Amino acid sequence: MIFDLKSSFTFSNDISSISKELQDSIKSFNSKIHQKDKTVEIKDIKIKKNILYFGIISEGIFRPHNALLQLKNEISKEFGKKHHVGVREIKITGYNISFELEKKPLKDITIPFADVKFKDKIATIILKEVDEEFLQRNYIDRMINRVSEKVESQYYEGKGEFWKAIWESAEKKPLWNKDPTEEMVKNKWLEQGPTKGKWFYRAQATAILKTMEKIAIEEVLKPLGFQEVIESHIVPFDIWLKTGHMEGMPGEFYYVCEPATRDTQAWERFVDLTKITKEVHIDELMNNLSPPKAGICYAQCPIIYWSFKGKTISEKSLPVLVYDKTAISNRYESGGRHGIERVDEFHRIEPVYIGTREQLLKLRENLLDCYKHIFNDIFDLEWRIAWVTPWYMQQAGKIGDESTQDTGTIDFEAYMPYRGDRKTSEWLEFQNLSILGDKYIKAFNIKAQKNELWSGCSGIGLERWTAAFLAQKSLDPNNWPEGFRKYLDKLPVGIEFL
Ligand code: SER
Ligand code: ZN
Repeated sequence: MIFDLKSSFTFSNDISSISKELQDSIKSFNSKIHQKDKTVEIKDIKIKKNILYFGIISEGIFRPHNALLQLKNEISKEFGKKHHVGVREIKITGYNISFELEKKPLKDITIPFADVKFKDKIATIILKEVDEEFLQRNYIDRMINRVSEKVESQYYEGKGEFWKAIWESAEKKPLWNKDPTEEMVKNKWLEQGPTKGKWFYRAQATAILKTMEKIAIEEVLKPLGFQEVIESHIVPFDIWLKTGHMEGMPGEFYYVCEPATRDTQAWERFVDLTKITKEVHIDELMNNLSPPKAGICYAQCPIIYWSFKGKTISEKSLPVLVYDKTAISNRYESGGRHGIERVDEFHRIEPVYIGTREQLLKLRENLLDCYKHIFNDIFDLEWRIAWVTPWYMQQAGKIGDESTQDTGTIDFEAYMPYRGDRKTSEWLEFQNLSILGDKYIKAFNIKAQKNELWSGCSGIGLERWTAAFLAQKSLDPNNWPEGFRKYLDKLPVGIEFL
């Protein structure tokens, strides 16, 4: 890495008369730094009236912008006392940082605050007119990382994500091959919701979704000792900054605005317009809204982690086993929506677990046993399990690799007969299970008395369970497996529409 910085100090008075002394002082400062890093060089020193111009280059760990701030302090100390002059202003007129990339960029990239140029595997970040605060804020290192990351991702574009099957059930003869959503809509069990990707579940569909919830609680969460918690639906940005969601999928959130005020006077014009025109005047509305600082729940685990932020958990309480089934997840799906299986709003139970590595690996076995019991014995599904890119990497648009076995995400996928042949059609991910090491433990500074903690979560999507089950077993309760009929053998009688 080569750092090449051009800067100037503006002094309170003319410094031409002390030019020699300043040059000597800079030289001795430079040799002091050499003890830490031999590659740092202060050069091209020029003095004009009250301005000192110079450059700093470095190839090592000692960054010129750090040297610059130290130099300012040294000079202020020495010359303030002796000659009553001080540094009034630091100017950075140019800062170029060159470094070698792992792979040759396939095309140009842009980043904020700087130009980026490539020559083979060498990237150069060219900053202009940056101030002291900018240098202190650690942006430079993050800009270097962002360039490397963007080049790296050029190689992933269009490549499939990591996927490796680890278990599959026997083939099961489907009882039909229709799309369950379409059929439920025909039967009036379900209506398209008032806005995109949302559904209105009438009593029959609701009974099935609620049965899924009951089965998950009775067959997985209660036997394993999970406790229910209730979280907020609204997630402030600082939580998503910690989990990485904010940088991972800003285009998929539903954002939340608070009113700027409750003052009725401020809202008077809006109310008048609404009463007179019977329309919503968006411009007037925007005048009375605050910019968003939060979004609606996207996954339930971030707020659960936040609830443990900075806390030390007693050994007695480990592993922590909790789940939320109240917060509804919202994701802006754009083109990908389909039926109840790919929606903008979905109902999910999310168990979260925090414990030692051994506790969580054991828990994963237990969870797998319970899930297998449900999908084999209660649903009688044709399904499989695969290692996939961990969810937090998927959600950050990254690709996983095979290095994960202790940690990582397992997906549960079901054959959907209406989509075609079992070998060539796409199966539905109807469930996941992850162990994520200490990623969120660190992000939220969660501690134990002596052990290192790990965490993980599992997404139990009620719509996905329903879609998988009905796609194979039809809408007719008479066709449903015995195990499921123990939970639900008769559907509510629907409302007759004329
Ligand atoms: N947090 C996980 C996910 O988003 C499990 O719900 O998939
Ligand atoms: Zn989660």
